[in-house]
Amino acid sequence: MDKRSVRDLELHGKKVLVRVDFNVPVKDGEVTDDTRIRRALPTIRYLLEQGAKVALISHLGRPKGEPDPRYRMDPVARRLEELLGEPVKKLDVAVGPEVERALAELERGVILLENSRFYPGETRNDPAFADALAAPFDLYVNDAFGAAHRAHATTVGVAERLPAAAGFLLEEELDYLDGVLRNPERPFVAILGGAKVSDKLGVIESLLGVADRLLVGGAMCFTFLKAKGYGVGTSLVEDDYLGEARRLMEEAGDRLVLPVDVVVAERMEEGVETKVVPVEEIPEGWMGLDIGPRTVELFRSHILEARTIFWNGPMGVFEIDAFARGTEGVARAVAESGATSVVGGGDSVAAVRKLGLEDRMSHISTGGGASLEYVEGRELPGVAVLPGKGEG
Ligand code: 3PG
Repeated sequence: MDKRSVRDLELHGKKVLVRVDFNVPVKDGEVTDDTRIRRALPTIRYLLEQGAKVALISHLGRPKGEPDPRYRMDPVARRLEELLGEPVKKLDVAVGPEVERALAELERGVILLENSRFYPGETRNDPAFADALAAPFDLYVNDAFGAAHRAHATTVGVAERLPAAAGFLLEEELDYLDGVLRNPERPFVAILGGAKVSDKLGVIESLLGVADRLLVGGAMCFTFLKAKGYGVGTSLVEDDYLGEARRLMEEAGDRLVLPVDVVVAERMEEGVETKVVPVEEIPEGWMGLDIGPRTVELFRSHILEARTIFWNGPMGVFEIDAFARGTEGVARAVAESGATSVVGGGDSVAAVRKLGLEDRMSHISTGGGASLEYVEGRELPGVAVLPGKGEG
């Protein structure tokens, strides 16, 4: 990566504000998936080893610019303390004299500031809020890849006010995605799933520009299948995008690979009757909810040939067992492939985790929206604002 790194900073005795993405699921006051916290630990530990005074800031959920008890950072602080093995001083504010005081008193461990979205200035990137955030600090480090597509005060405003650098997680995420997009070892096979073609048009276009094969599963495949003229029953279809789907199929030719069979049911429910049918024969009144076994074999054969893989989005409704085989088959094939594999996006990551295959992937992105926007070729504001290596 060509951005200034935390390694390039003189850190001893410096007060450093670190933007992390601790937007993690919380249930009954407990963090239920701490991946994002774990992935930020190398940067935090490095800063502590270098003798910096560290305060972390993140958003959690989508509170409306004011304190909301459901989104306090306290459960995150408790989990972080366990993982870090150092004290975490949680503050109930993110700006003001309390922050200065806590920094002055900090002897061990780190400070965790309150949810940045308790302040209306965060999402607006308000200059006065960014000034207040930056005031107590000497340096700023962004390690929040998952929030880098947001032009907020904690991702952009502060970076404009303090000497700034990228943390290790941000660097790793960008290095993997760049490797896939700019210089993939071939064959490069991209796998896309999820519900909507409309959400992923830019990603499909961009991947078709670089991938040798694009395997399409998930509900979005039904818009393509309908565009080919097949009856798709009551499957989810975006009729407004049939023209786009046709254009993409023409452009891609045999590089775009669609399912040949699907699992159908009359309703999307646990325990309902299911059938496997060829895509040309989806019955009236039935909906496709997963790719079928012949498709898993077809996708698997492409995946096992790949040297580079990018995967985003499940192949079916994997939360329901009867519709999880497709996603499972793809996950296992990616794990077996030996290719450099990058998995981006919340649901495909959840599927990989459910199957216990995380260690078999080369890189699992902590960013859903951010990784998709990056693959689309869009500039991420939180990255763009960071100075390049050697810049003043
Ligand atoms: C995410 O979970 O994708 C990031 O933390 C960004 O959250 P947001 O979509 O609420 O900005």
